Amino acid sequence: MALKRAGRIKILHVSPEAVPFSKVGGLADVAGSLPPALGELDADSRLLTPAWPGVLDAAADRGFKLTRITRKAEAAIRWRIYRGSVWKCSGPGMEAYLLDEPSLFGGPVYPDELTPYSATPFLFLSLAALDLPEAARWAPDVIHCHDWGTAPLSAALGWHRYFREAPRSFSTVFTIHNLAHQGLLPLESLGDWGIDPDGAGVDGFEFFGMANLMKAALIASDAITTVSPGYAGEIMTEEGGEGLGGLLRSLAPKVSGILNGLDDQSWNPASDPCLPAAYSHNNMAGKALCRQKLLEAAGWEDDGRPVFVSVGRMAEQKGLSILLPALERMTAMNCRLFIMGSGQAEYEGAVLKAASRFPDSVFGHIGYDEPLSRLAYGGGDFFIMPSRFEPCGLSQLIALRYGAIPVVRAVGGLKDTVFEEGPDKNGFVFPDYSPESLLEAVSRALKTFADKGAMAKLISGGMKKDYSWRQSAPLYKKLYESLPAR
Ligand code: ADP
Ligand code: GLC
Repeated sequence: MALKRAGRIKILHVSPEAVPFSKVGGLADVAGSLPPALGELDADSRLLTPAWPGVLDAAADRGFKLTRITRKAEAAIRWRIYRGSVWKCSGPGMEAYLLDEPSLFGGPVYPDELTPYSATPFLFLSLAALDLPEAARWAPDVIHCHDWGTAPLSAALGWHRYFREAPRSFSTVFTIHNLAHQGLLPLESLGDWGIDPDGAGVDGFEFFGMANLMKAALIASDAITTVSPGYAGEIMTEEGGEGLGGLLRSLAPKVSGILNGLDDQSWNPASDPCLPAAYSHNNMAGKALCRQKLLEAAGWEDDGRPVFVSVGRMAEQKGLSILLPALERMTAMNCRLFIMGSGQAEYEGAVLKAASRFPDSVFGHIGYDEPLSRLAYGGGDFFIMPSRFEPCGLSQLIALRYGAIPVVRAVGGLKDTVFEEGPDKNGFVFPDYSPESLLEAVSRALKTFADKGAMAKLISGGMKKDYSWRQSAPLYKKLYESLPAR
C-alpha cells in the first residue's frame, strides 16, 4: 500500500537524450516534455541528462540559468572512478541537471556498436544518478528511468555490490520506449561496474548467454510503463516481446501502458518560427504557403498532386521495407513523396535512388534537420508512417497537429491514436505489413483528397484534438503516488 508522503512528490527523470538539450528521436521529445508537464501538476519534477558536446553552451544561449553544484557525481567503472560535474540548469518550465564528463559524453549519443567500452557513458549516467541525491542534496521520491541506456540504474538496485544494500528513499519506474533495443553486453563485463556474481544468473541479467540490461531493470524496478496501451499488450506476446514477452507476462501486475503526450507549445503551427506562415484550425491560409515552400524545397512546381511526407529514422521499425516497394506504384497513382530521415545505409541509398528515378515525384533528404522536418509537417497533405512496430510514435501526433493527415499501419501507438472509422476519424489505417495493404490505404486517402470538404473536415478534426500531456501526465503522477514511500 502506498504510504503518504509529506509535501510535493519529487521525481527524477533520467534519460540519455532530452529536448531541448539533445535529440535522436521521440525519447528526447518525451524526456524533455514530461518533466515540465508533471511540474504543472505540482510535482517537483527534474531531469538528469548528459551534457553532450555543445549542450552547456546551447543551454546558456537559450537563457537557461546554469550553476555548477559543488560536489561531483561519481561512479566506479573498471577500476577507474569517473567524476562528472553536475550543472543545475533552470529555465521556464524546466529544472534539469546536466552531467558533464567530456571523456564519456563526447557524442554522438548512441554508439554504432554496443561494447563494454561504448556502454560506459550509459553505465556512468545510471550510477551517477544514484549518487545525485547526495551530490545535489535533493532526495527524490521516485527515480524514473527511460529506456535501455538508463537500465543499469534500476538493475544496480538489484545486484550492485554497494547499491543493493545501500539505504534509499526512492522507488523506481522504468519506461520501455522501445523494446527492440535492450542493451546486450558480455556477461563477463558485469563485474566491471560492480554487479555481484549472482546477478549473472537467469533470474538477473542473463539472456541467451549475454547480459541484458533492460531485462535486469524490468525485474528490479518497482513499476514498468510503456508508451501506449497498444504496445503494452504487444510486448507481452511472443511476436512482439523481442524475447522478453514471457518475462513481461510474469511481471504484468506492475506493467502499464501510458500514451505519450506532445509538447503542444513547441509543436504548434500557430507559433512555429520554422514555418514561413502561421496557421491554426480556424485560419488555415498559412498552410498553403507552407505547402508552397515545401514544394520549392523539393524543387517542384505545384501541379495539384498530393504530397505525402515521411520524417523518421530509416530503420527496419519504420516500415521502409514496405514503403520502398510501394513507391513506384504511389507515383503511378499521382502521389508525390517527400521523404526525410537517416539511418541504415541501404534504406538511405534506396530513397536517393528512387528520388533520382522519379525526380518530379520523389524527394529524399538524408540527415537530421529539425527546421526542414517542421516544414514537412506543415506543408504535407498526408503523413505516411507504415511502421512494422511502433511503441507510440510522436511523428503522427505532430502531423495531426500540423494538419498533415496520417496514413499509418494499425500497430502499437499508431493504432491507439489514428482512426479511420467512427467519430474520432482522423486518418487512414491499414492492417497488414505489406505494400498492398499500404497502397489500399493510400488509394482511400486519394479519394478523400479529391473531396475538398472531406479533407478540410479531417484536417481540422485532427488539429483541434488535444494530444498533449494533459491526458497522460496525471496518469504518471497517480502511478508515482501509488508506489511505496521508502
Ligand atoms: P522514434 O522515437 O522511434 O524515432 P517518434 O515518432 O516517437 O519515433 O519520434 C521521432 C521524433 O524525431 C519526431 O520528433 C520526429 O520529428 C523527429 N525526427 C526523426 N527523424 C528526423 C529527422 N531526420 N530530422 C528531424 N527530426 C526528425
Ligand atoms: C521510441 C519509439 C517511439 C516512441 C518514442 C518515445 O523511440 O520508437 O515509438 O514514440 O520512443 O516514447
